[in-house]
Amino acid sequence: MATSARKVSLTGIKPTGEPHLGNLIGAIRPALELAERYDAMYFIADYHALTVLRDPELLRRYSRSVAATWIAAGLDPERITMYRQSDVPETFELTWVLSCVTGKGLMNRAHAYKAARDRNAETGKEDLDAGINMGLYNYPVLMAADILLMDSDVVPVGKDQSQHVEYAADIAGSFNHLFGGEHDKLKIPQPVVPAADTGRTLPGIDGRKMSKSYGNTIPLFVSESQLKKLVRRIPTDSTPVEDPKDPDSSSAFQILEQFATPDVTSDTRKRLEAGGMGWGDLKNLLFDVLNDQLGPLRARYDALMEPGSELDDVLAAGAEKARARARRVLRLVREATGIQ
Ligand code: ADP
Ligand code: TRP
Repeated sequence: MATSARKVSLTGIKPTGEPHLGNLIGAIRPALELAERYDAMYFIADYHALTVLRDPELLRRYSRSVAATWIAAGLDPERITMYRQSDVPETFELTWVLSCVTGKGLMNRAHAYKAARDRNAETGKEDLDAGINMGLYNYPVLMAADILLMDSDVVPVGKDQSQHVEYAADIAGSFNHLFGGEHDKLKIPQPVVPAADTGRTLPGIDGRKMSKSYGNTIPLFVSESQLKKLVRRIPTDSTPVEDPKDPDSSSAFQILEQFATPDVTSDTRKRLEAGGMGWGDLKNLLFDVLNDQLGPLRARYDALMEPGSELDDVLAAGAEKARARARRVLRLVREATGIQ
């Protein structure tokens, strides 16, 4: 068990799709290291997913699937805390209190809301708020509540989420200013960019960034035959087998680099550059490397996904621990505001 003297890191994961190789490289692997340095907490942000997801069966499946994926990928449930946001209803009490100290203008400037308005402008809509729900608009306040409720020290985020952590810090500052008295009631969180996040983006099977919104992903847990099919679909040029090739121009090589050992990667680079290795050979190698790595993960994942598996115990223990932290923070907030 992690000691309470360590700083607390909080990672939120939105369950909006089946996890894919890009998520593993860009989000899961960097987050695994946090457990070494922090008292690491991870939660499934199921209420955040509700801003976009309207299918109860899917939301249930993705929520469980995300938790199972992260554990299968290497999070040790003995050392970390994992919980579902919806198991911590204290979040919503704090969300309201924070809403009352948050300027509306701050929300108007939030990236996700602005992007949605820009899309409306681009498509010629007269009402720039068309199709934008209050969940999307309030999203940064809910995220601030997630963070502040756990008394988090650091929040590891990619570039797209750093504005939200700055907002959480701003909102905590406003609360402390208004209600802090002698001692700050809410801890000001710091964003951190995980060490392994070097801005590397994994390409998908059409060569663009792998993303579920492009439908070009290689999901982490597909059957061998499906995996083979997806790898075969990665585009290549028509350079003949015997000609020298530029490995860095190839999506298949860029994916291989992330999963193969350094020896295999450099050997493959040499063989492509020298000529004699075809793109088909590269794809066969990529399939073998992926299949070797994902096989054991898939077995663990399948076991965790079974109803009544160890996953339920992990989430129940996580919820209890998270709620205990939440209640401590809320008690201070209620006292400070005069609610009780
Ligand atoms: P998607 O683009 O499939 O919708 P998300 O936006 O839900 O993925 O991303 C969840 C996390 O996975 C983020 O931290 C993001 O940086 C990471 N991620 C997603 N796609 C990639 C990719 N192709 N390469 C690297 N990291 C990625
Ligand atoms: N907004 C984050 C995302 O889209 C998920 C998230 C919700 C989160 N609450 C959080 C991340 C709190 C860190 C801390 O990926």
